[in-house]
Amino acid sequence: MTQQRTQVGIVGSGPSGLLLAQLLDRAGIASVVLERRSRDYVLGRVRAGVLEQGAVAILREAGVAARLEREGLEHHGVEIAIGEQRYRIDFAEQAASLTVYGQTELTKDLLDARDARGASPIFDAADVAIEEVAGTRPRLRYRLAGAEHVLECDFIAGCDGFHGVSRTAIPPDVLRTHERVYPFGWLGVLADVPPVSPELIYLSHERGFALCSMRSATRSRCYLQCDLDTDVADWSDERFWDELETRLPAELAAHLTRGRTLEKSVTPLRSFVAEPLRYGRLFLAGDAAHIVPPTGAKGLNLAVRDVHQLAAALVAHYRERSDSLLDGYSAAGLRRIWRAERFSAWLTSVLHRFPGRTSFDRGMQLAELDQLVTSAAARAAFVEAYTGSQAEA
Ligand code: FAD
Ligand code: PHB
Repeated sequence: MTQQRTQVGIVGSGPSGLLLAQLLDRAGIASVVLERRSRDYVLGRVRAGVLEQGAVAILREAGVAARLEREGLEHHGVEIAIGEQRYRIDFAEQAASLTVYGQTELTKDLLDARDARGASPIFDAADVAIEEVAGTRPRLRYRLAGAEHVLECDFIAGCDGFHGVSRTAIPPDVLRTHERVYPFGWLGVLADVPPVSPELIYLSHERGFALCSMRSATRSRCYLQCDLDTDVADWSDERFWDELETRLPAELAAHLTRGRTLEKSVTPLRSFVAEPLRYGRLFLAGDAAHIVPPTGAKGLNLAVRDVHQLAAALVAHYRERSDSLLDGYSAAGLRRIWRAERFSAWLTSVLHRFPGRTSFDRGMQLAELDQLVTSAAARAAFVEAYTGSQAEA
């Protein structure tokens, strides 16, 4: 057994864990990131693609925004299509914008930054166990190629996503969880075809929700609402494009370019919040603490803001011997998280087709959407929530 020591032990090398390590490093705080998957697996995942301005500012502060600022696509509006009707919501009135940049690319930039500092994550770490977080000397135990290792830490950051182990280190009588599981998922594809339109389009269609997003001027990322038992093997590329074409307004369908898909997967939709975010010397961040349905494009942005807040609290602990930010981490984070949960759940509820919905339910959805596209006040509230222009960093 080998024994090592660090200041902050980080479980998980998704965007939360990698960014936290990077922010701490820049403040002179040592950390070690443990990841159960391989480097190739982590680099191969296709997930979110939309960053708020505030998240971009944090990534700039972390010194990992150079490529994102060169290659990211800045968007100043978004489209909502209701059947054949198209509406554009302009962000300009609130001087807001979003940057379209794939999570896959961000993960690569973060990993490059860790490698350049000689502080790469430990990949393929098996059986990570979190111990003694209620005391003053917490530790992480893990196995690497069969050998057992122990990492002693001052603090542990649980950045290991929804299916990680960190949350389970909080005793059941302390941990409270709040959850809504949706009766549908998203079937997503990535394809090297130009986007059907220069901005994102969220579609409310009788056959179900669809989203046309992108990664670049030549790469599309599109989603279809699907049943939870959908098997991607039943969805040939042709079937996917046929269904998307059906859900698009005719004038956009005429511009749809089909192509071979590079990736195809089903994501179930879920809203989830765990509290508290802190137990002793363990702090939860990112998907380990909360899940939002992807409709509001908030998952990645919340993760970035969580770890920014956590890094600031740890810096205050080490530099100023002040624990007030660590003590306030859970309450301040939960307030921000619940606001994003509210928006994501609302947008999900107005855009998707729910099984068993009545004509009254559809009438309510259409009235919500009508209010959104016709009322300046409703549009302003949407832009504020969607672009995160009011979120605290
Ligand atoms: P993750 O990215 O999940 O990273 C957690 C890391 O911890 C992983 O690398 C995992 O392998 C590792 N880990 C897990 N358990 C352990 C363990 N026991 N020991 C060590 N390491 C462990 N958001 C959007 O806004 N739009 C989208 O389209 C979208 N699509 C998504 C699709 C899927 C399939 C998923 C799962 C999420 C999606 N999200 C989307 C959400 C967004 O990607 C997440 O919010 C974001 O990845 C959160 O980052 P994270 O670092 O907290 O968690
Ligand atoms: C994406 O590009 O993957 C994406 C964009 C917006 C969303 C969800 C996913 O709301």
